Amino acid sequence: MAEFKQAPAGASVAEQAMTWVDNRFPATKLYKEHMSEYYAPKAQNFWYFFGSLALLVLVIQIVTGIFLVMHYKPDAALAFASVEYIMRDVPWGWLIRYMHSTGASAFFIVVYLHMWRGLIYGSYQKPRELIWIFGVAIFLCLMAEAFMGYLLPWGQMSFWGAQVIINLFAAIPFIGPDLALLIRGDYVVGDATLNRFFAFHVIAVPLVLIGLVVAHIIALHEVGSNNPDGIEIKEKKDPKTGIPLDGIPFHPYYTVHDLIGVGVFLFLFSAIVFFAPEMGGYFLEYNNFIPADALKTPAHIAPVWYFTPYYSMLRAVTDQMVYVFVGIVAIGAVLAVLRGRLSGVMKVGVLVAAIVVIALLMAFDAKFWGVVVMGLAVMILFPLPWLDKSPVKSIRYRPGWNKWLYGIFVVNFLVLGYLGIKPPSDIGTLVSQIGTLFYFGFFLLMPWWSRIGTFKPVPERVTFHAH
Ligand code: HEM
Repeated sequence: MAEFKQAPAGASVAEQAMTWVDNRFPATKLYKEHMSEYYAPKAQNFWYFFGSLALLVLVIQIVTGIFLVMHYKPDAALAFASVEYIMRDVPWGWLIRYMHSTGASAFFIVVYLHMWRGLIYGSYQKPRELIWIFGVAIFLCLMAEAFMGYLLPWGQMSFWGAQVIINLFAAIPFIGPDLALLIRGDYVVGDATLNRFFAFHVIAVPLVLIGLVVAHIIALHEVGSNNPDGIEIKEKKDPKTGIPLDGIPFHPYYTVHDLIGVGVFLFLFSAIVFFAPEMGGYFLEYNNFIPADALKTPAHIAPVWYFTPYYSMLRAVTDQMVYVFVGIVAIGAVLAVLRGRLSGVMKVGVLVAAIVVIALLMAFDAKFWGVVVMGLAVMILFPLPWLDKSPVKSIRYRPGWNKWLYGIFVVNFLVLGYLGIKPPSDIGTLVSQIGTLFYFGFFLLMPWWSRIGTFKPVPERVTFHAH
């Protein structure tokens, strides 16, 4: 057991109490390590607001969720009416429900911007690979959480959205139909589905989510934050104190800095909650104000906006698109054999692998490959730290044309999102096919394009302008 410390002579009651606690629980040590002596780089700009905002939205969702559960009934016969009851009869129920439904969209806005910051400043590169990997796992959990939460109000879109997405799983060869049955708990989306989604939405996924967020922040505090210059501040320390020269204590500097972000965020969030909670049908779809009816399919079923880029990629995979994939695999294999520096055995390996992939592509139908593409669109984020071979982290010091490439990436993602909301059309399908190829090309060709061009010299110290 560690030696018990004594409070200094003349210490106040509060100091004595703190010493008592510190002898039993490392409160002061944790506070110093993670707040007052956690040195974050100076010059972190507004892009750095979104991590703390994601934490804030997480808290909003948990607190409002707890109050919703007090009045909600996870029963297919009662669920819709219980949400109406919350909206009309429960004191402040409308506010709690609108905060929770707006919070879901706000979560995705904040997290997409947070991921974008990671992308442009190369925050996923060594030594922050695990922060990124925990982040992608968080993103997956968030998607599952939002999908299952959306079934709970038991409106038309809840019901038919779940129906469409669960049926996608049925397209998986061999295990698909049984897997869909397992997810539904019944042959149709019904009470059993609602009950299990409720259990996952209110306890299972949030537990995993919170665990991952804790791991994300522990990993961040282990290696320290990146910055817009992509410089490792730990490499330049004050020889006497050992404190990074470009580091400032997280508290009070960044706690106060983050409060600005919180203020702006709450202003916008309140504006939506109080004046436009449905957000023109994007945050709460109009069809979801109609109770679920298994006998009436809505004319047009689309997922909520934050899923639509991926939904577009799913719909882009038609039979013709599968032929394009076959072509790409074939050309890729031929180029690897002819131009790549591979040994004879490896060349044979590449050719065999390509033949197997092409045979699989031809064997299963396009619907299944659509599901695979949709899943891979998120999974491809995991290996990003190893796909990027750029010698510098931040976009500031990458070749100028990289900015255009990243800009096109964002526009492409938004166009895919827009097309996913719209009913399918010939031109829409063609554009989403090109968009899907660009999305995957961006990541899969990164080991090649991230090395080329003229890189600007990275400064020794972070660029800081007092304001
Ligand atoms: C519930 C969701 C999340 C929460 C609460 C969260 C929280 C945070 C916080 C508080 C920070 C430090 C402040 C900042 O740099 O903004 C951070 C940093 C970071 N996060 Fe997240 N995060 C979430 C999701 C994600 C996701 C989905 C990704 C990526 C896929 C991600 C990747 C990163 C990276 C790479 C950093 C280090 C950034 C840097 O130092 O430049 N995070 N996160």
